[in-house]
Amino acid sequence: MTFAITQTTKAIGAEVTGIGPDGLIDDDSIVATISDALESRGVLIFRGLDLEPETQVAFCQRFGGLDYSEGHHPVPGIYRVTRDATKSSAAEYMKGTFHWHIDGCTPLHGEPPQKATVLSARAVADSGGDTEFASTYAAYEALTEDEKEQFASLRVLHSLEASQRLVYPDPTPEQVKGWRARPTSVHPLVWTHRSGRKSLLLSAHADHIVGMDANESRALLDELMDRATKHDLVYRHQWSVGDTVIWDNTGVMHRASPYPAGSPREMLRTTIFGNEPIQ
Ligand code: SIN
Repeated sequence: MTFAITQTTKAIGAEVTGIGPDGLIDDDSIVATISDALESRGVLIFRGLDLEPETQVAFCQRFGGLDYSEGHHPVPGIYRVTRDATKSSAAEYMKGTFHWHIDGCTPLHGEPPQKATVLSARAVADSGGDTEFASTYAAYEALTEDEKEQFASLRVLHSLEASQRLVYPDPTPEQVKGWRARPTSVHPLVWTHRSGRKSLLLSAHADHIVGMDANESRALLDELMDRATKHDLVYRHQWSVGDTVIWDNTGVMHRASPYPAGSPREMLRTTIFGNEPIQ
C-alpha cells in the first residue's frame, strides 16, 4: 500500500494510509509531509497503527519538545487518559475533556499553547468516548466580512474557572479557590498566526469579552461556539483499538463525547510544546 493522505471532510481532517510506525520516525520526507498536512488539515488519522508507547514518544519528538510531567504511565512522555480510578489518580479530572477546549490557553507562566497532541487508543468505551475536532481556522473563514472587521479588536478573558463551572455547576468554596489560583489570560478573539492564517480562539475556557456587557458577551461567545462547532466544521473520530490521531492544537478545538466513570476506555496522550504565542 502506498503512502497517501486523504481528506476526510471539507473543513478538517485527513486520513494517513500506507505508513507503519517505522516510517513515522525514520523517514524525514514523510515526517515533513505529515507536518505540512497537520498544518493544513488540523487533524490526521492513522487507523490501526498499533503504536507502541515508546514509538509514539519518538514520533512526537520529531515535532518539538515534549511534556514529560507525571502521566500515570511507566513510559516518560505518555499521559494515560482514563476514567478508571484504579489506573490513574487523575481519572476524576477527565470530565473536563467533555467540553470543547484548546490546550494551554490559561498557562501558568505565559507559555504559548501546545503545538500538537497525539492520542492512541489502547481500549475503547462501551458507550460514548468518540473525540470531536473543530477547525478554528474554518470557524474564522465562515464569518462574514463585516464580522471579521467587527471582531478584529475584541479581546477575551480565558479562565480555568469558566471551563470548570461547566463540569461542576455547584462548586464548593475550596474548588472555586483552587480554580482562581490559576492565572487567567486575555487573548485576542482572532488569532493571527505566524503563517498569516487567522483562527477564532474560542472554547469552554473563554469567559467573557473584555469591556462588553456580560450578557451581550455571553450571547456572542455562545453564538460563535454554536457556529464553530456545526456539523460541517467538525470531524468526529470513532475509535478502534490501535488508532492514532494527531491534531494541531493551535488551530483546532477538541472534546471527548461523555463516557462513564470506570469505563475501560484508555488513550495514551503525548503533548508537544508550542512555540507560537497567541497574538
Ligand atoms: C483530551 O482532551 O486531551 C482527551 C480527549 C479524549 O479523551 O478524547
